[in-house]
Amino acid sequence: MQREVHPDIERVMYTAEQIQGRVKIAAEWLDERYKNCKEPPLAVSVLKGSVMFFCDLLREMKTPVQLDFMTISSYGNSSESSGMPRIVMDLSAPLEGRDVLLVEDIIDTGYTLVKLRDLLKGRGAKSFTVVALLDKPSRRKVDIKADYSCFTIENEFIVGYGLDYAQQYRNLPYIGVLKHSVYEK
Ligand code: PRP
Repeated sequence: MQREVHPDIERVMYTAEQIQGRVKIAAEWLDERYKNCKEPPLAVSVLKGSVMFFCDLLREMKTPVQLDFMTISSYGNSSESSGMPRIVMDLSAPLEGRDVLLVEDIIDTGYTLVKLRDLLKGRGAKSFTVVALLDKPSRRKVDIKADYSCFTIENEFIVGYGLDYAQQYRNLPYIGVLKHSVYEK
């Protein structure tokens, strides 16, 4: 059954099918990157936004991986980054000598990625690879980018497929542009 587009969504930017197509290509890129790895890379989901992308991406990958999770938050219920991402839940696995694959939903200002890169590289990872579903380069405040991004987008307020506004819309199967009226109340 076709699900109707949520009434708060102005337009669908990427359908579930378009997302899955790009996820598959990202998984192939990662399989190539890790083809000579002797130990399984440690795939890290940056919660909560990356959870849908993380699950779909790892299911498409043929490389055996291990999983870990980290929660970091800089937006809270606001639409503006605090500029000071806060670690809410840390990893459970040590990173010494590991190939770490960090999976993000979006790189926006870049503050979150800088914080994670500095923190995780400092723990002795052998390699550090960042895959992002979305990249918004026009919003960047610090000079950093993912090794691979599925989509590069303009500065529009998007939700769905893991991305939220005030913790809502994360389970929409598509990525959609949120109506201005929703966050300008
Ligand atoms: C979002 C997103 C990234 C980060 C990117 O997380 O998931 O982790 O912001 O923004 P930045 O490049 O400006 O730092 P958020 O803090 O909203 O938490 P969430 O993943 O739980 O939604």
